[in-house]
Amino acid sequence: MKTRHLLLLVLFIVSFQLLTAQPNINLIPKPLSLERTKGVFKITSSTMISVSKNLNNKAKQLKNFLEPALGFELPVTNKLTQRNCIELKLEPSTKESGKEGYQLDIKPDKVVLTANDEKGIFWGIQTIRQLLPSQILRGAVVKDISWELPCMLISDKPRFKWRGLMLDCSRTFISKEQIKRYLEVMSYFKMNVLHLHLTDDQGWRLEILKYPELTGICSKFHESFKEPSEFQGYYSQDDMREIIEFAGQRNIEIIPELEMPGHSSEIFAAFPTLSCKGDTSKIHPFFKGPSVHNEILCAGNEANFRFIENILDEVVTLFPSPYVHIGGDEAPKKHWKECPKCQNRIKEEGLKDENELQSWFVKRIEKYLNTKGKKLIGWDEITEGGLSSSATVMYWRGWVKDVPEKVAGLGNNLIMTPTSSCYFDYNYETTSTEKVYSFNPVAVAFGAEKSEKILGVQANFWSHIDRTSSAIDKQLFPRLIALSETAWSSNDNKDWNEFKIRLKTIKKSLDIIGIYYFNEQ
Ligand code: ACM
Ligand code: ZN
Repeated sequence: MKTRHLLLLVLFIVSFQLLTAQPNINLIPKPLSLERTKGVFKITSSTMISVSKNLNNKAKQLKNFLEPALGFELPVTNKLTQRNCIELKLEPSTKESGKEGYQLDIKPDKVVLTANDEKGIFWGIQTIRQLLPSQILRGAVVKDISWELPCMLISDKPRFKWRGLMLDCSRTFISKEQIKRYLEVMSYFKMNVLHLHLTDDQGWRLEILKYPELTGICSKFHESFKEPSEFQGYYSQDDMREIIEFAGQRNIEIIPELEMPGHSSEIFAAFPTLSCKGDTSKIHPFFKGPSVHNEILCAGNEANFRFIENILDEVVTLFPSPYVHIGGDEAPKKHWKECPKCQNRIKEEGLKDENELQSWFVKRIEKYLNTKGKKLIGWDEITEGGLSSSATVMYWRGWVKDVPEKVAGLGNNLIMTPTSSCYFDYNYETTSTEKVYSFNPVAVAFGAEKSEKILGVQANFWSHIDRTSSAIDKQLFPRLIALSETAWSSNDNKDWNEFKIRLKTIKKSLDIIGIYYFNEQ
């Protein structure tokens, strides 16, 4: 090849790479497809937001996200505008991208964000926020900056429909304000489920109007432990409505979890007769007593079902989510074995053993939930003793290898939260961000690309070790950001080394938002 040709070829490759290389595209999670084009769109004081009337609320959200740092107004118009505008558009022809997918077309004179549904528009707005300089996240005017969006065409949709985080609000009460901080960050990374573990041996955290003792007594550690007041408490139903609304505005569903029949000893601090042996409990911090209690809700006592149903009546009215999580994990059967009422129930119902009694218990609760139009989720122990045909299983015991095949074989849905990659109470030596990022839920479940029946993935944060706000931040971040890409982006699109570069830049956004994160070596 002649030197001139070689030079031309090198020039061509370099300019092609300059055009397509994306050192300044720091989107997390990575979109399904992204094509860089030439130029930039500049947001200036004469830029408008153009929407049809049914998207006025999304336009308002976009304004609220951008205006504080811009320092000028972005007027909203319902007229079609041709130039210098960001247009938000619902278009049913983009059906294959589902409710959450969107297209974002950024040209020098106009930005067009199209989706089938408001949900997709909201995720597209998060993409716009991430494409702007990170200072856009500041709550006050930022001067001397050019607010540019690089031109590109994005077509995006999520890999999984369940992209979750669980917060254990029982071992340590997590304040409403802190929950809102996490909802903000979750939505920035397109995560859409916040599962609240509201009850456990360390405290009942949700106001139930019919049983004021649950919060009056069962939300408090026994005074002898002198626990700090901020680690205990509860959400009033008004607090919870506020959280649900705040989450809903950010495309996030709140899933309530109420533990039964085990991990329920806090109830016996006020209602001892609901246990098999009339036990009372001194509610203790996690490390000041057994991590799993033998005390358990009696399955032979009809009064227990009235109690649970009365509670569920309030829960199903309060939470709009289609699911209620009933726990079901780590329920020791010792007291059921020794309890005449439970043994009588086993006989009457023709059950084989205490595992079948748990299954009978869960199925009875599920039937009740179904009459209220709700679906049941339980930890994977609900597969023992017989799984109902409709329950959704949250898989956490990764060492019980056959659970996913068994659940999918029965036609039930699964949510993947194995301890090995999804337990964010574990330290970073055990579960590094790279390990979380490399987790492929489909391969872990089935050893192959067989994804139907997997609703999605979730990180679980248990609050027995790290309890202060900044310590919890560091357990969650940056691992939750890595999980957001596992949950949203296609597996073929993932690359740890390239993700690390994007993550480095995204950490600047966390600094601005005021979220702590762990720095791995
Ligand atoms: C669990 O970690 N016991 C669900
Ligand atoms: Zn009993």
